[in-house]
Amino acid sequence: MRAIRYHEFGDPSVLELEDVEQLTPDADEVLVETRAIGVNPCDTLRRQGLWGDELPLIPGSDVAGVVEMVGERVTRFDVGDRVFGTIPHLNVSGARGDRQGTYAEFVVAREDRLARLPDGVSFEIGAGLGLVGITAWRALFHFGELEPGQTCLIHGGSGGVGHIAVQLAATIGATVIATTSDDYRPIVERLGADVVLEYDQRGLQDAVIESSERGVDVVLDHMLGEYMQFDIDVSAYGGTVVAIGGNYDSPVIQDLTAAIGKDLTIQPMDMFNEPNIDEVLERLARLLDADRLTVNIARTYDLDDGAEAQRAVVEDSFAGKIVLVP
Ligand SMILES: NC(=O)c1ccc[n+]([C@@H]2O[C@H](COP(=O)([O-])OP(=O)(O)OC[C@H]3O[C@@H](n4cnc5c(N)ncnc54)[C@H](OP(=O)(O)O)[C@@H]3O)[C@@H](O)[C@H]2O)c1
Repeated sequence: MRAIRYHEFGDPSVLELEDVEQLTPDADEVLVETRAIGVNPCDTLRRQGLWGDELPLIPGSDVAGVVEMVGERVTRFDVGDRVFGTIPHLNVSGARGDRQGTYAEFVVAREDRLARLPDGVSFEIGAGLGLVGITAWRALFHFGELEPGQTCLIHGGSGGVGHIAVQLAATIGATVIATTSDDYRPIVERLGADVVLEYDQRGLQDAVIESSERGVDVVLDHMLGEYMQFDIDVSAYGGTVVAIGGNYDSPVIQDLTAAIGKDLTIQPMDMFNEPNIDEVLERLARLLDADRLTVNIARTYDLDDGAEAQRAVVEDSFAGKIVLVP
């Protein structure tokens, strides 16, 4: 089969389209013929050697496609099912399917990494949802314990994670304050944000505080180096700042007293630690099916343009997701 693979860490030029041997599924695995593959910023961090993976490696976590073969212990899927999901690479259990990524024509995955893709939902949307959907779900509901009637702040509301988080928070009836660049204000409003602010506007912090009656209950922060103190300052008493990424080396908290005074929870998290990926995917699938959630597909690239897609996912500005199509 054709796959993108790299044999050394480095810039996008290390990604090569190769003919590689196709795996067959173990007892608890399925073989999926890929129809679309989500591209995520963490694919590029891994390519640079941040996690010291064994090489060569096929990159990618997100996939959507059609089940081609099932292992004998698989109970949830049959050949021909349309599926989507995300295959973690971190905390590798040793399972083969967790070592091989998704930038390939076929992918072997444990069945608990996948869910059925509802009829009428495109493979591109399925492939764009897994990783960012689980991230937003875990951040808002698992760690943030966001409830209807509470207020959340989502930095970067047009981003991969951000645009899903806006929809999830809006769908449960939370008040959603989202930041964005000017270009994507209309889309973030359409996705359900109650208040949309430009992230580079003057007086952003005051605008957030004015937009929330008693402060923000849950903050979803993907740029900690930029916003950690800001998050503390806009938070309500008892609030939670869920920290998912960005600029870890910077001194991020200048004044901890506000956080102490508010009994804040500052919660770093990694979606790859989610123990019940299939359960979250199934909930996301129900929302897709009910038209209460979608993925904005900003661009698609051919599989052999994987290097260009990885360049774009970190260097270009776009709303939503970039996907590869084999
Ligand atoms: N911990 C985890 O489990 C986890 C999971 C997923 C992602 N992440 C991390 O979270 C980050 C975001 O991931 P993603 O997939 O959502 O990336 P993405 O799709 O590239 O989105 C990033 C967003 O940040 C916005 N942005 C740029 N400058 C900003 C600023 N100064 N203030 C606020 N927003 C700004 C961008 O908007 P413009 O394009 O308009 O500038 C864009 O919408 C990455 O660092 C990723 O590695 C962590």
